[in-house]
Amino acid sequence: MPIIIIDGPASSGKGTVAKKVAEFLGFNYLDSGAIYRALGLMVIRECLQQTDTKNILRLIDRMKLSFQDGKTFLNGQDETDALRSENVSMIASSVGKIAEVRIKLLDFQRSFAKMPGLVTDGRDMGSVVFPEADLKVFLTASAEKRARRRHSQLQKFGDSGTIGAILRDIQARDKQDQERSAAPLVCDSTYKVLDNSDLSVEETVQTVINWYKSHCEPG
Ligand code: DC
Repeated sequence: MPIIIIDGPASSGKGTVAKKVAEFLGFNYLDSGAIYRALGLMVIRECLQQTDTKNILRLIDRMKLSFQDGKTFLNGQDETDALRSENVSMIASSVGKIAEVRIKLLDFQRSFAKMPGLVTDGRDMGSVVFPEADLKVFLTASAEKRARRRHSQLQKFGDSGTIGAILRDIQARDKQDQERSAAPLVCDSTYKVLDNSDLSVEETVQTVINWYKSHCEPG
C-alpha cells in the first residue's frame, strides 16, 4: 500500500501540503501532530507536569481522537481551534520528548495505513513510524518565512502576538524536536528535501505529486 511522508519543522506547511496531496490522490490523511497536540491539551486541562510520564501515559488510554471534515474531535468535542494555539504547540513538543509516549502512540498512527494509500505529516513519520514508506519528503523553509506564515494563521484566531515572539517560539520548538533523544526530527538520505521558502502552496503540492508519480506510482 502506498505511503507518502511529509516530515519537517514547525510551520513548514506540511499539513496544508499533505492534505492537498491526499485529496488529489484520493488517499487517507493523518496529521500526526494533532495526536501530540491533543495529548498536550489534555495535559494542560488536567494540570499535569510535562514530565509526569505515568499520568501522561494514562491520558493516552482515555484519549479518543477522530478526524472528520477537516475538524479534530477530542473526547467527543470539536477542539480544532484549541489545538492550534502556541501554548498547546509547545506542550505537544514537550510530551513528544517522552520515549514511552511515542511507543504507545505507534499502533494508533499505523492504523491509518489503509487502502488506497496514506499521506501523513509530522517529525518521525518517515524515520520511525513508516520507515518503509514509498516517498519521504522533508519539507522546510527559512525560520523567518515560517514565522510569518504562522503569524497570519494565528491572526485568523485573533491570537497572533508579534512575529518576533512567534519566531522565538518556532526556534525553541525546532531545537526541542531536533535535539530530543526519542525519535528526533532528522533528515537522512532516505528523504527528498523540498525547501518551499519561495514556492506557493500549489507549486509545493505539484512537486510532491510529480515525485510520487515519477518514483513510486505503478506503471
Ligand atoms: O506538526 P505540529 O506542529 O502540529 O506538531 C506539534 C508538536 O508535536 C511538534 O512540535 C512535536 C510533536 N510531534 C512529534 O513529536 N512527532 C510527530 N510525528 C508530530 C508532532
